[in-house]
Amino acid sequence: MRKPLIAGNWKMFKTYDEVLSYAGDIIQRISDVKDVEILICPPYVYIHPLIEALKDSAVKTGSQNVFWEDSGAFTGEVSAPMIASIGTEYSIVGHSERRQLFGETDETVGRRVHAAFRGSLTPIVCVGETLAEREAGTTFDVVESQVRKGLAGLDADQGASLVIAYEPVWAIGTGKTATPEMAQEVHGFIRKILSDLFGREVSEQIRILYGGSVKGDNIDALMAQSDIDGALVGGASLDPASFERIIRFKR
Ligand code: 13P
Repeated sequence: MRKPLIAGNWKMFKTYDEVLSYAGDIIQRISDVKDVEILICPPYVYIHPLIEALKDSAVKTGSQNVFWEDSGAFTGEVSAPMIASIGTEYSIVGHSERRQLFGETDETVGRRVHAAFRGSLTPIVCVGETLAEREAGTTFDVVESQVRKGLAGLDADQGASLVIAYEPVWAIGTGKTATPEMAQEVHGFIRKILSDLFGREVSEQIRILYGGSVKGDNIDALMAQSDIDGALVGGASLDPASFERIIRFKR
C-alpha cells in the first residue's frame, strides 16, 4: 500500500514571523493524523527554522529545488548534502515554474534527481504539459518524455523511493483543475512508464502526486482515483485551515 503524501509547496511566500505562526497552528490542527505523510517545502531560508518549529510533530520539511553538484564554486546554489544535513528528506525537482522561468530542462532535471539521491534526498520529480501541448493532443508524449529523461539512469532501488508529481501547467494557480478522470488517465499512464523502467512491482510502490489548484473542495474526488497517491499543493497550503482540510481528505 502506498501511504498518501500531502505536500505543500510554499513557492516564494511568507515572512519569518508568518512561518513560525503557521507552524504553531498546523501542529495543533493535525496532531491526530497518522495515516498521511505531511510535507511542507518552504523557501530555503525557512527550512531549518521550520524543522525546529515542527520538531514535536510528524510534519516533514523539504526543499523546492536542489543543485546538481555536491559542493564547489557555485554562488547562490544549494546542494543535496547541505539540505540533507539539516534533517531534510525531500526535494522538489523540475517544477514547471523552474522549467518556464529559470531554463530548467529535462537534462538538468535528471542531473538534479541524481544529485538528490547521492545526497540521500528523495526527489519529487514534477512533470506536466502546458495548455498548448494539451490542446495539440501531445500530453502523453510530453509527459512520457519528461518522465523518461528525468529518470534516466536510475536503478530500481532509487525508482522505488522516488516520488512523481503530475502538475498540468494550465492548472497551476489558475483555479482550473484537471477533472479526477483526466488526472487519473495521466497518472495511470505514468505508472505504466514506471513499470517499463523499473518493473511492475517497483512501479506499484511509487507515489504519484497530483498538483494544480488542489483545494478542499476537489481533493476528495482526486484522492479517490486509483493512481493518485497524494497532492502537491501550492496556494491552498499557505493557509493552515485549508491545508488541514486537504490533509483530512475523505476516503
Ligand atoms: P497551486 O496549488 O497554487 O495551483 O500550485 C500548484 C503547484 O505548483 C504546486 O507545486
